[in-house]
Amino acid sequence: MVDMAAMGTTMKDMHQTDRNPTMTEPKISAKNVNVFYGETHAIKDVTVDIADKTVTAFIGPSGCGKSTFLRCLNRMNDTIDIARVQGTILLDGQDIYDPRIDPVQLRAQVGMVFQKPNPFPKSIYDNVAYGPRIHGMAANKAELDDIVESSLRRAALWNEVKDRLDAPGTGLSGGQQQRLCIARAIATSPEVLLMDEPCSALDPIATAQVEELIDELRANYSVVIVTHSMQQAARVSQKTAFFHLGQLVEFGDTGEIFTNPRDPRTESYITGRIG
Ligand SMILES: Nc1ncnc2c1ncn2[C@@H]1O[C@H](COP(=O)(O)OP(=O)(O)OP(=O)(O)O)[C@@H](O)[C@H]1O
Ligand SMILES: [Mg+2]
Repeated sequence: MVDMAAMGTTMKDMHQTDRNPTMTEPKISAKNVNVFYGETHAIKDVTVDIADKTVTAFIGPSGCGKSTFLRCLNRMNDTIDIARVQGTILLDGQDIYDPRIDPVQLRAQVGMVFQKPNPFPKSIYDNVAYGPRIHGMAANKAELDDIVESSLRRAALWNEVKDRLDAPGTGLSGGQQQRLCIARAIATSPEVLLMDEPCSALDPIATAQVEELIDELRANYSVVIVTHSMQQAARVSQKTAFFHLGQLVEFGDTGEIFTNPRDPRTESYITGRIG
């Protein structure tokens, strides 16, 4: 078998030879996904399509599996020894669990921002330049400088750090670190951005900036955001998925889910009766 990962084959390359998608095809299509941590059945037969150029919110009570399911979408669960993922997840029609797929390449296409800011122990500049460097995205220093600046600008951090790009990323405030992690995630121009409670460490001003960024990203990317804030889900998303005890209970237009939920569990959650 040809090792396509070693040849630097991306899902995009494979998919261009394999398929010719139309605009209406989902960006990500998950079918019958189950996740186990040892004996714990954390995700139960979840089937959902995630649209391109759309913000999708994952909501639901603590422990219902939002982070677990999000991590399936860029194979971050691979890094958890006891996690087992079953089912099919297609990105542009291509199975992301295909053994030919290089998870490192995949994660440049499907970027992720975590709840707890996790800058690398490197300078601010090198944090943002990390992905573009390993994926050979800049031909020279000037191009790399441009990517770093534009990523920091879009993450609403540039003005606060432009005079100290060589300072360590870990020396920033919590909210600044989170915006640095967002800049790092968008620096590789991912097609999908997964955000797990990205604003929980941010003040209202930084939260508003990140929400604005999410809205801007929607023009080109598919964004999935986990949030405990109904207001945030209502503000930023067009689609909402409600999870409960490992199941996807309800999925639909955000406006519909919030004003006219079909399942009593969804209604209880959004009206604050469970969670
Ligand atoms: N690394 C892990 N090892 C073992 N069990 C885990 C692990 N991560 C999550 N779980 C379990 O899987 C289930 C789903 O957890 P998950 O973190 O996906 O929930 P969540 O909806 O993101 O919750 P929260 O809103 O609190 O972040 C829980 O029962 C949790 O205890
Ligand atoms: Mg979580």
